[in-house]
Amino acid sequence: MVILNLGKKQNKKKLHSGEGVRLGKYELGRILGEGNFGKVKFARNTDSGQPYAIKIIDKNKIIDLNITNQIKREICALKLLRHPNVVKLYEVLASKTKIYMVLEYVTGEELFDKIASKGKLPEGEGRKLFQQLIDGVSYCHSKGVFHRDLKLENVLVDAKGNLKITDFGLSALPQQFRADGLLHTTCGSANYVAPEILANRGYNGASSDVWSCGVILYVVLTGFLPFDDRNLAVLYQKVLKGDFQKPKWLSAGAQNIIKRILDPNPKTRITMAEIKEDLWFKEGYNQAYHEDEEDGVYVDDQAFNIHELSHEEEKSSSQSPIRINAFQLIGMSSCLDLSGFFEKEVRTEVS
Ligand code: ADE
Repeated sequence: MVILNLGKKQNKKKLHSGEGVRLGKYELGRILGEGNFGKVKFARNTDSGQPYAIKIIDKNKIIDLNITNQIKREICALKLLRHPNVVKLYEVLASKTKIYMVLEYVTGEELFDKIASKGKLPEGEGRKLFQQLIDGVSYCHSKGVFHRDLKLENVLVDAKGNLKITDFGLSALPQQFRADGLLHTTCGSANYVAPEILANRGYNGASSDVWSCGVILYVVLTGFLPFDDRNLAVLYQKVLKGDFQKPKWLSAGAQNIIKRILDPNPKTRITMAEIKEDLWFKEGYNQAYHEDEEDGVYVDDQAFNIHELSHEEEKSSSQSPIRINAFQLIGMSSCLDLSGFFEKEVRTEVS
């Protein structure tokens, strides 16, 4: 077994004291992962037996960090997305202190764990995952959603070897554009972040995501990060210059597409459309079929009324949240103004 240093703290899948806790019709289980704003736990719908992944967000943390709008955007962004390579959001529930996002459960592993334990993938296998990554990300771009934190940890691979992108916590909708048409917020993980973001110039969300996809492709095909250094200042310099090793043993086609993606100049960097025309990329490419479904996501109204579920209530199987259509609620508040979500303290009784 190969254990590569891919720059993430190794947080092993843990059991947790909250395991077995009921949340409405869901029974919470083990921790699947820990993201920027909280844990992701396994859950089972006790009526249907279906598995889900529930992302638990601490409301106080997001209020303290002043990222309320970012979370509201995440919910709005996920609402727009229906694609086989993007983790689906089914439902949003909330207590006084937490928001629970009920997500598609992906049976498999993080791409990070796959590469960290097995090392680089054969080129054909890596290309197939990259094709799916580009399909999912370009679909999101077509909906005006940019991920902005694409990295191995945010890419899951299911039991059939299909890729699913998760954690749109840092995604931005077009409303964030300034008059110059560029995005203006710094985020993302240093090894994956595009040079124009580090340089703190306005940036184009699509080409910055292309850069991060290039970093992912590089890691998948080589087993190493293209830009890495213990010293953050040195790492930034490498990223800004686009200074990375080009392994000679990679095929000419793979070397070429990586070079075109990891171009530090976003204006000359390859675009999503050009990637789809690249000969290396196109080999064996079957674009994922997807269908825009009618909105079928539900949000518990307590998400907006901020009624705290007591431990007893969470445990009680009879505590079944009143569900209303998320899009009525999100729509009522307008997509980017869900202020009632956090600020109003309207108490409702749980029957
Ligand atoms: N880890 C993080 N998100 C997940 C999901 N949706 N399914 C399975 N494991 C996960």
